[in-house]
Amino acid sequence: MKSTNRRQFIQQSCPLLIASIVGGTLPSACTKEEELTTPVTKESYTLTGQVLTINLDHSDFEPLKSRGWLNFTEQKVLILKSNKTYQAYTNRCPHEGVRNRWSYSETDNKFLCSEHNRSYKADCETQGDGGVLTCYKTELSNNELKIYLS
Ligand code: FES
Repeated sequence: MKSTNRRQFIQQSCPLLIASIVGGTLPSACTKEEELTTPVTKESYTLTGQVLTINLDHSDFEPLKSRGWLNFTEQKVLILKSNKTYQAYTNRCPHEGVRNRWSYSETDNKFLCSEHNRSYKADCETQGDGGVLTCYKTELSNNELKIYLS
């Protein structure tokens, strides 16, 4: 019998597992190992494990300067700049998980998901009509923003 390592086993088995599951959740073993262990380096950011490091001087993050917030869809993160601090949140709506219907109201300090019009306070604590948006710890140093995604 041919021997396979874990990665080969997962690559070969997951399509069959996925095909056999109807309405259930995927086994965690089907998560791509590469996503968890291999640093992703782009021009404007780096993802190493669960630490996302963003170069705020890069033009990709210009919207943070002009309107104060950004849905960084590639890494599934909302980033909000207020004064000189940055906050980061999952971009997964707590209601039904939609990630791309966000707007932000500076007056109310709330994010709104227009999918079903639920809103979420940006203070990471207060219950909004949709619950509490998950926040991530951030750290700013020399215009480099680290976001701890766990
Ligand atoms: S999915 Fe966002 S409000 Fe329903």
